[in-house]
Amino acid sequence: MDDFEKKIDDALANPQNQGEMADADSVGTVGSPDCGDMMRMWLKFSEKDGKKIIDRASFQAFGCQTAIAVASIATQLLKGKTAEEARHLSAQDLAGDLGTLPPMKIHCGQLVEGALRNALDSDSTPSPSNKPKNTLIGDIHSAKPKIIKIVPLETSDDQA
Ligand code: FES
Repeated sequence: MDDFEKKIDDALANPQNQGEMADADSVGTVGSPDCGDMMRMWLKFSEKDGKKIIDRASFQAFGCQTAIAVASIATQLLKGKTAEEARHLSAQDLAGDLGTLPPMKIHCGQLVEGALRNALDSDSTPSPSNKPKNTLIGDIHSAKPKIIKIVPLETSDDQA
């Protein structure tokens, strides 16, 4: 087992902030065009020193272990960040202590980045559809597919 796999295992041994957030201010959902995995992220904001910051973040995933590990770390990293700061975090930034994502796993981090961006965008245009009541699996199996917004994740030139 290499160092990256060991860190993934460590993150998965005690994943943080998994599950829906009933009082979230915004939620974002994305699907990966690369593998079909899906992720939803919830954000709760608060105010500190006159600035709106992320108070809490949580996630649900139909994704691989890397995506879950990155989301677990990302939801911890996001605490205390402004929306603007969060918007500038790349998939690699969100992976935090996992270190450099292997090329084959970059899209897993981008799934987390996409869910975060989608949640940040949702916050700027709040509507009832931004606050799904169902779990991610519930939405996938329910007759409410419109709640799930599939957005292609951007890939940079060096990953093409
Ligand atoms: Fe699909 Fe990792 S293989 S998110």
